[in-house]
Amino acid sequence: MPTVDLRSDTVTRPSAAMKAAMIEAPVGDDVLGDDPTVQHLESVVAALAGHEAALFFPSGTMANQTAIATHCERGDAILVEEEAHVIYYEVAAPAVIAGVLTWTLPSNKGTIDPDVVRRRVLSADLHRPGTTLLCLENTHNRHGGAIVKPEILSEYRAIADQHGMRMHLDGARAWNAAAALGVPMKELTAPFDSVSLCLSKGMGTPVGSVLTGTKSFIDKARRWRKRLGGGMRQSGMLAAAGLYAIENNFARLTEDHARAKRLADGISGAHQPETNIVLVDTQRPAAEVCAELHALDIWCFPVAERRLRLVTHLQISDADVDQTIAAFGSVPS
Ligand SMILES: Cc1ncc(COP(=O)(O)O)c(C=O)c1O
Repeated sequence: MPTVDLRSDTVTRPSAAMKAAMIEAPVGDDVLGDDPTVQHLESVVAALAGHEAALFFPSGTMANQTAIATHCERGDAILVEEEAHVIYYEVAAPAVIAGVLTWTLPSNKGTIDPDVVRRRVLSADLHRPGTTLLCLENTHNRHGGAIVKPEILSEYRAIADQHGMRMHLDGARAWNAAAALGVPMKELTAPFDSVSLCLSKGMGTPVGSVLTGTKSFIDKARRWRKRLGGGMRQSGMLAAAGLYAIENNFARLTEDHARAKRLADGISGAHQPETNIVLVDTQRPAAEVCAELHALDIWCFPVAERRLRLVTHLQISDADVDQTIAAFGSVPS
């Protein structure tokens, strides 16, 4: 049986057409400011996000952490949803790089009650740190690709404006949210001061994320990117993959969502997905179930003691979905 790799949508490999676009891309030296393909990608993504400017990064982690460091001063407080990637999987970078205090807030599948945000905003005085940034994630990875709906964003924005607080979106999978809702990306991103968008997940490029915001924010972020070692030279080759992905792989994300739904319908203990991530609750330790599935060529991760995760993407076909449902049928979970 072929291997069905459902560990993550980061496992996708570039297609022949994407590779051809990379090879043919005109390039320059982006640190010196003259790579035309990087500049083109940055202007396309800024327009999609409804922001003035954008900056190309090697990873989503670096884009998120650059945003936090750019928005905040050392000793500021930031508000973050308690299961967020920026604190769960980025090796304490807000503390190490930006030097901020992270205040985590509970949520309903990634959507924080605006009253909870309001109660946690502190203005700086002799004793207290000032809260200068609210960080959200859409779609939300650890909440199974859940969507933070656009209707609530104006409530967060009003709180932020009242308290002089900025808003950053980890929009690694905002592409999936926009495709699932059938709305222009900017409805989900424009209310934020900055947004990071990953190209190397469902969009299928080998490398790359883009951070968007105002021109002055991006000018400052560029210095942070350089400081972190993220200035790249002939990165137009990578940016070309991003341009190809926006053209060819964005609209098709709904196919991944439909396959995720079919997986959830066929597997007992599965949560209904809103996008491309299916969480499955297990009776036995999830690591054991994953090991037995692995022996049947189905690859997936445990994400908690009794929960595993299946992620659909560009390289998962209908036949792979059938094979996975059949494997779950023969492994007691
Ligand atoms: C929600 C979210 N944000 C950020 C990242 C970080 O992206 P990268 O792996 O490119 O650093 C990921 C990676 O899986 C993610 O799922």
